[in-house]
Amino acid sequence: MQESDLEEVIALEQRSFTEPWTRKMFLGELRDNVFATNLAARAENQEWNEVSEGVLVGYSMFWVVFEELHLMNLVVRPELRRRGIAKELVRQTLSIAAAKGAQTALLEVRASNVAAQGLYEGFGFKRKSLRRGYYEHPHEDAVIMMLEKGGDIMLSEDPAVLEVVRREHSEFRALEDTHQRLEDQLTELTKLHILTPDEEIRKKQIQFEKLSTKDKMAEIVRQFKQHRPLSAGRS
Ligand SMILES: CC(C)(COP(=O)(O)OP(=O)(O)OC[C@H]1O[C@@H](n2cnc3c(N)ncnc32)[C@H](O)[C@@H]1OP(=O)(O)O)[C@@H](O)C(=O)NCCC(=O)NCCS
Repeated sequence: MQESDLEEVIALEQRSFTEPWTRKMFLGELRDNVFATNLAARAENQEWNEVSEGVLVGYSMFWVVFEELHLMNLVVRPELRRRGIAKELVRQTLSIAAAKGAQTALLEVRASNVAAQGLYEGFGFKRKSLRRGYYEHPHEDAVIMMLEKGGDIMLSEDPAVLEVVRREHSEFRALEDTHQRLEDQLTELTKLHILTPDEEIRKKQIQFEKLSTKDKMAEIVRQFKQHRPLSAGRS
C-alpha cells in the first residue's frame, strides 16, 4: 500500500466499519511505523464483472513485533466478498510475517463479526479471551484470537530453513503445490451449503490428503534439519 492508494482505501474503510480509521491513522502506519507492512490488492485482467481492472479490492495491514504478527486491519470490497479474496490476503500476510520471523499471530475482532472469525478459524486461529466492552458504535466485546506456534507450518518453521528446503527439494515444492491445490478444492467444496453424501466423503478424502501432504512436508523439513542444521552455517 502506498499513499497514492489512500483515497480508495479510506473510502472502502468507511464502507466497512462503524468506527473507521482516519487518514491520519493510515498515514501513521505508512510513514512512521517500522513494524508495519501494508498490502493493497487490486483487480487484475478483468477478473470480476463488478469492478474494472486496477480497482482496489481489499487490503491487509499488520505488524511483526518480537516474533509476533499483529493483524491490525483487513477489508474486502463488499461487492466482492465470499470469493476467497480475504483468504488470499491472510495467506500472503502469514507468509510475509513468517519470512520476517513471526512465530505466532494475534488479532482482535468484534464478537458479532462471525465472517471474520470464520475466516481466521480456517487458518487455525483459536479464541483465547474476551476484552469486555472494547469497541464502541455499537458497544461490544472484542474476541482475542491467536495462532500459536505449530498452528501452521509456515509460521512455526524457521523461514530460512524453508527457503533452502524449497530451493533444494523439488519434492517439497511439488508437495506445497499439491497442498495448495487441495486447499483450493476444499474451499470450492465448502462453498456449497449442503453437501451430498458423496461430497461429504470427497471432503473427508481431501482433508485426509491435505494432512498427509503436510506430514510429508514436515518430514522433509525434519530430515533436512537433522542432516544440515542451518545454525552450523551461521556461527
Ligand atoms: C471479513 C472479510 C474480510 C471476509 O472477506 P471475504 O473476501 O468475503 O472472505 P473469503 O471469501 O476469503 O472467505 C473466507 C472465509 O471466511 C468466512 N466467511 C467470510 N464471509 C462470511 C460470512 N458472511 N459468513 C460466515 N462466514 C464467512 C468463511 O469461513 C469463508 O470461508 P468459505 O468461503 O470457505 O466458507 C469481509 O467480510 C470484510 O471485509 N468485512 C468487513 C471488514 C471486517 O470485518 N474485517 C475484519 C476485521 S477483524
